[in-house]
Amino acid sequence: MRIVRTVADVRAAVRDARSRGASIGLVPTMGALHDGHLSLVRAARAANGLVVMSLFVNPTQFGPNEDLAAYPRDEERDARLAEDAGVDVLFAPPVAEVYPQGFATSIHVAGLTDVLDGASRGAGHFDGVATVVTKLFQMVAPDDAYFGQKDAQQVLVIRRLVRDLDMPVTVVACPTVREPDGLAMSSRNVYLDPESRERATALNRALDAAEREVAEGRTDAAAVLAAASAVLGAAGIEPEYLELRSPDDLREVARVAGPTLLAVAARVGPARLIDNRILEAAP
Ligand code: PAF
Repeated sequence: MRIVRTVADVRAAVRDARSRGASIGLVPTMGALHDGHLSLVRAARAANGLVVMSLFVNPTQFGPNEDLAAYPRDEERDARLAEDAGVDVLFAPPVAEVYPQGFATSIHVAGLTDVLDGASRGAGHFDGVATVVTKLFQMVAPDDAYFGQKDAQQVLVIRRLVRDLDMPVTVVACPTVREPDGLAMSSRNVYLDPESRERATALNRALDAAEREVAEGRTDAAAVLAAASAVLGAAGIEPEYLELRSPDDLREVARVAGPTLLAVAARVGPARLIDNRILEAAP
């Protein structure tokens, strides 16, 4: 595996691979790799001749009171895991390579970004994500790009961006990878102390409870959300949001009729965690 730090070097590696007929798979990450990221690498590896992973803690997607400074960084560990999982090129640029002096452009995807995490973290969060992902796509020019379904809203925003800007990239969303007790894997799980780690399982259990409610035929939003809320409440968790929305355009829905996104965000001890599930009414 090669580690490159400049746009020129990542482009040269991609050009070389393309000249040999290889397709390019990109796995964008902020590092602090876990099995969720590695599942994206495996999917990219299975479908592409060259796998590029970007490792960049993107400052523009963090709000002023968020954890940019504390975000876990360990490039040596990440490089080892990336190489073992089959990454060919690790693109780990410094901030100035991505945002040089005078950088003045921001990408805003309207509509999808003012609810859920957009409302709770501020619209600037998704502007930061959309801007850096656009830049990564420009730098690497991948055929396929891989993202985790845990960040369901992020996947929708990126799909819309790719469609609206006619980017020749296929966005591949891979299933959420979970710990044995159901907690969705996240780089932020390292913030959890043992007591918060235990309570954090309530997010997945709340999604399970909502799913059971729907399976038993109680499909109206009030009943589904009450079932999930009760589980969170029992664990002493007050969600930042717990909402049922259309999985295509994030419109709020009053009932689980077709596939419906149930999304939750909550602060558990020192960590802000998100999770989601697609609920489907029994036929
Ligand atoms: O999901 C993430 O890790 C980040 O939001 C991404 C897509 C790498 C952009 O910084």
